[in-house]
Amino acid sequence: MGIDQRRWRWWNAVVFIGMVGVTGSNSQEKQKQVVSRIAFGSCSNQSAPQPIWDAVVDFHPQVFIWLGDNIYGDFKRPFKIFGQERTVGPWKNVPRFVPSSEQEMKTRYEKAKSNPGYARLQQNAEVIGTWDDHDYGLNDAGKEFHGKITNQKLLLDFLDEPQDSPRRKQAGVYASYMYGPVGRDIKIVLLDTRYHRDPVGSDGTILGNSQWLWLEKELKGPPTALTIIGSSIQVISNLSATIRPLFAMESWARFPKERDRLFKLIADSKRAGVFFISGDVHFGEITRYDCALDYPLYDLTSSGVTQSVEEVVPHFLRSFVRFVAWLTPSTMRVKDQNCRYKSCIYGQTNFGTIEIDWDSHPVTLKFKVRDKDSIMVTGVDVSLTELQPSNSEVLDRAKTEHNNSKHCTLEVSLPWIVRHRLAILFFSALFVLLVVFVVLVYTCFRFCRLESCKRKHD
Ligand SMILES: *[C@@H]1O[C@H](CO)[C@@H](O)[C@H](O)[C@H]1NC(C)=O
Ligand SMILES: *[C@@H]1O[C@H](CO)[C@@H](O)[C@H](O)[C@H]1NC(C)=O
Ligand SMILES: *[C@@H]1O[C@H](CO)[C@@H](O)[C@H](O)[C@H]1NC(C)=O
Repeated sequence: MGIDQRRWRWWNAVVFIGMVGVTGSNSQEKQKQVVSRIAFGSCSNQSAPQPIWDAVVDFHPQVFIWLGDNIYGDFKRPFKIFGQERTVGPWKNVPRFVPSSEQEMKTRYEKAKSNPGYARLQQNAEVIGTWDDHDYGLNDAGKEFHGKITNQKLLLDFLDEPQDSPRRKQAGVYASYMYGPVGRDIKIVLLDTRYHRDPVGSDGTILGNSQWLWLEKELKGPPTALTIIGSSIQVISNLSATIRPLFAMESWARFPKERDRLFKLIADSKRAGVFFISGDVHFGEITRYDCALDYPLYDLTSSGVTQSVEEVVPHFLRSFVRFVAWLTPSTMRVKDQNCRYKSCIYGQTNFGTIEIDWDSHPVTLKFKVRDKDSIMVTGVDVSLTELQPSNSEVLDRAKTEHNNSKHCTLEVSLPWIVRHRLAILFFSALFVLLVVFVVLVYTCFRFCRLESCKRKHD
């Protein structure tokens, strides 16, 4: 071996170690940096145009969080309208509804990744995430879905999870992240609401034992200034309670015992500054529940990057959709004068943002849902002092006050006529239409008989 060659090798080693050191310290430094801008989104059809990324990139998030349906990798169940018996449910092993091959799933993920706006985002922001049903692999699926092991790998590939990450070895994609220096630290906890979930209606588990144990450790661990819990499905809103039997949505509220357990765990942990972010529903809204803890629990919902309730109806029906949104009762939704629409629901493409002003006294948080031009469509400012567990005396007073506050009443305890007004209106309209139809048919019939009688007489 010549001396030059040896030197060359030695140089290579230095450069290599240097690079490792730089990347290592880079990511460490990144995690120590104060984080004050976070964005999140969900429900993104990889085959559809995704103009919203420009707005997301222009927001300059330091962290971007995928909250599920990051791609649509499944096949829709047909005949959903006929209910569970006719629907080939996720608990039945029907190959037709799973990606036909791993290769096909991979291609879909690649497509999603090759989006230019998203690629730009990835260069500047740390991108983390979890999944929901459509990237899990099957509409509304839970623990019974047999493709979950394959698809967990695909999701983690999509998120560029390191090959040696423990997240690749566990059952489910839940994970937690820490950002910022002490005092300005943020914990982001991402839940897996799919891998271990019992069937909807069973009032069983959403998270499963192993994830519950992990979550307990995460929440009871060292305190942080803020704790953001990301759940693909909504935690606070119980939309199903007010839109049934017309529609039903997945949510934590459909698993009341599991939801109570979650609230109790947060309360027992005495953690300050906890709030939720969620996706799934194809619209954006902010909800808050004042009777779970001794401070308000917010849930910021943003959905979707491409999929939205208004975009599935013809243009002239959009006002009608907004009217229905306004008519849908909600006890938890935060209504502010600054909302784009009266309902404070936004049914076009949107993304969510969290801005933290660490320098103000007290520290303030700006929660926003933004449209594709980055303009706020609903939002609320919260002071960090509002999100502190208080002592029991304050707690009792607050709870008595809360008892009268609207963010404390469960949707199911609304007066029957209020709770079901959407369905009442729908069925009344249907009834009127039916009556009109019957009258028309009857008149026609009478008219025709008269005519035929006349002809006979002639
Ligand atoms: C996604 O977009 C493509 C192209 O616009 C469309 O054909 C497909 O039906 C969409 N998928 C969903 C789940 O909306
Ligand atoms: C949410 O609504 C559903 C359907 O009406 C109901 O079964 C469930 O108990 C409600 N959950 C809560 C927490 O109120
Ligand atoms: C709220 O009011 C109900 C009855 O009106 C009462 O039973 C309950 O204890 C009150 N809750 C709190 C926390 O004060």
